[in-house]
Amino acid sequence: MIDEKVCLQLIDSAIKVRDYSYSPYSNFKVGASILVDDFKIFSGCNIENASYGASNCAERTAIFKAVSEGYKVIHAVCVVGSFDEFTYPCGICRQVMLEFALNNSVPIIIAQSRENYIVHKLNDIVPFEFSKNNLI
Ligand code: THU
Repeated sequence: MIDEKVCLQLIDSAIKVRDYSYSPYSNFKVGASILVDDFKIFSGCNIENASYGASNCAERTAIFKAVSEGYKVIHAVCVVGSFDEFTYPCGICRQVMLEFALNNSVPIIIAQSRENYIVHKLNDIVPFEFSKNNLI
């Protein structure tokens, strides 16, 4: 469960950062936000590249920003895509979420707006995962 106020803060943050999306190739803007320790929120947008393969998804931008500033534990994730549809994280981003999530029940908020969103648990969108726990 996630507190509704925090959930709405995450959605606001993801919608705001989506404006900075650099996506001239797909024309698909994505914004993401994550909740870390101290109730701090990091956000990020997708950043594409002429080589396509060097593009970075919004979720990973937000996560890498947080980790590189010392926040390694994710308590919640929010993703807001474009057009009136729900945008789910790609496989690579799901794997990166597994690496830093507090646990498998971390809420993943898939939002279109403050009024229209779905909350999943990380484990729902990455069942049968391979993670660092397998290496211990
Ligand atoms: N994208 C994201 O940033 N996050 C997702 O969850 C799905 C896809 C980006 C990658 C690329 O820049 C564009 O959306 C189209 O795939």
